[in-house]
Amino acid sequence: SKSPEIIERMRRTGREAADTLAALGQMIRPGITTEEIDIACHEMAIARNSYPSPLEYPGMVDPFPKSVCASVNEVICHGIPDDRPLADGDIINLDVTLFKEGVHGDTNATFFVGQVDEASQRLVRVTRECLELGIEAAKPGRPLNEIGRAIQDHAEAAGFGVVRDFVGHGIGQQFHTDLQICHYYHPRQTDIIEPGMTFTIEPMITAGSWKIRMWDDGWTAVTADGSRTAQFEHTLVINDDGAEILTTPSDTTTHPYWALASAPV
Ligand code: MF3
Ligand code: CO
Ligand code: CO
Repeated sequence: SKSPEIIERMRRTGREAADTLAALGQMIRPGITTEEIDIACHEMAIARNSYPSPLEYPGMVDPFPKSVCASVNEVICHGIPDDRPLADGDIINLDVTLFKEGVHGDTNATFFVGQVDEASQRLVRVTRECLELGIEAAKPGRPLNEIGRAIQDHAEAAGFGVVRDFVGHGIGQQFHTDLQICHYYHPRQTDIIEPGMTFTIEPMITAGSWKIRMWDDGWTAVTADGSRTAQFEHTLVINDDGAEILTTPSDTTTHPYWALASAPV
């Protein structure tokens, strides 16, 4: 568990990451490329005296070559920015992690590109709710697997799948610690949630099968059946009364986690 001083630093870095994510979201429109978003992410990070944690992060094949993960439609996570222009009707997840003051802040959201079909809108809304329910389940004294149970129950009740191959993680001075947070019910994940713990919850929810396929770049994970998928992520600290979101932006009105919660269905 983390000292109050480290958590204070994580609060500041978390807000920088969230503000960067919200600003990148404002750039999304048909025609823009994910490479343009990546360049903006790198520039914003440097302007905030931060390092974009994905850049050169080690992987199974090659290190991650860009500053942000950009995952479109059937891409589950870790999409590499490229020169394909976004198209009207796409959904895109941007995953921003910044390193500042010796700590990481990790957060992502799924955005609509232009006019998106009803089924994709429902997928994105339910995924957002899965994160909210996971956060509500993250109370001190409860087993860790209550988080995954809450997420899986909600996703499957809506007819969606929960990705197993990627999990939430402990975070702080390290980007990923060995603490794993499953987004499905894992019977043996019974460690008790304690005040001072810092970790992410980042459910990846699929319209079809939860089975994945990896591209040979070693990073891009896609749904095996080509169905669409969405994700939301926050970095959290466990307080005596529950989880506090460390990746809240200065202005929540332009951030889909908050904007979608208040928009009429
Ligand atoms: N931000 C991702 C996560 O939520 C990790 C990205 S690793 C990268 O854990 F190398 F792809 F950036
Ligand atoms: Co993460
Ligand atoms: Co992330």
